[in-house]
Amino acid sequence: MPPTTPGVGGAFPPRLDLTGMRIDEQIAAGEHRGKVGRAWEHTGRLQHEFLVARGMTPSSSLLDVGCGALRAGIVIAGYLEPGRYYGIDVNESLIRAALVHELPLAGLEDRVPAENLRVTDRFECDFGIPFDFAIAQSVFTHLPLNHIRLCLFQLSRAMAPGGRFFATFFEAPPDTPYDRRVKQVVRRTWPERDPYHYRRADLRWAAETVADWDVRYIGDWGHPRGQVMMEYTLRSRDLPGGSLGERVQSRAATLRRRARSARARLSRRVRARR
Ligand SMILES: C[S@@+](CC[C@H](N)C(=O)[O-])C[C@H]1O[C@@H](n2cnc3c(N)ncnc32)[C@H](O)[C@@H]1O
Repeated sequence: MPPTTPGVGGAFPPRLDLTGMRIDEQIAAGEHRGKVGRAWEHTGRLQHEFLVARGMTPSSSLLDVGCGALRAGIVIAGYLEPGRYYGIDVNESLIRAALVHELPLAGLEDRVPAENLRVTDRFECDFGIPFDFAIAQSVFTHLPLNHIRLCLFQLSRAMAPGGRFFATFFEAPPDTPYDRRVKQVVRRTWPERDPYHYRRADLRWAAETVADWDVRYIGDWGHPRGQVMMEYTLRSRDLPGGSLGERVQSRAATLRRRARSARARLSRRVRARR
């Protein structure tokens, strides 16, 4: 397994034990579950049900970004065909907890080979297969905006065309003064520190400036602590293998679409003034 990298975005959560002496004991006692948030079973099931309702089938391929110790991964890997679940995380000890504790406990070792789980602090997710779906549950809440952009860039190279990436975040209303903390369901969030909040427009901009994503706000999806959902759909094949002609055509189509929406917005404004 690759060495632990001091992560980005505050490297949430820290290693299970800073001395590194008791990690295996802590994993054996299941203490890692408390490090990824509350409601282990409920939050895992919620993500699985959400993805199935959006079209995930057993033959889909899924990337779990910030997979932790597989809170959702255990439920989803039990549903997908063997080898179709992949996960990345910055925290090596959580990936270890998944491999030595959670997968054997659920009898799912054969469905998630160790090569499908990767420790990375740069969202490297080039596993060699195009992903139909990806999810980042409670990950953007710990990341500064430029790390979110890096995540969206890396994923744009790993998703299948039309692939959909769902990401949860704490929302700040658009009129919130930039420096204010925002009271969420159970905690306060910050513009510049973990736990972060974002405006919808921030997360739209983050995606549109790095790759050809279509962005759709889903909002409430039943998260117990009030995180809302954004959907990113990969519009064109931004893979290095795509021919220059294809990429130019796709870029031109994107620019035409943007020009059409700008014209529509302008005429709506003109009509409203009359
Ligand atoms: C609140 S936990 C959620 C874990 C999982 N998505 C779930 O629902 O159980 C946040 C996860 O994001 C991971 N994380 C934080 N920063 C990351 C980064 N830069 N790259 C990858 N994972 C990251 C943490 O290590 C942690 O496992």
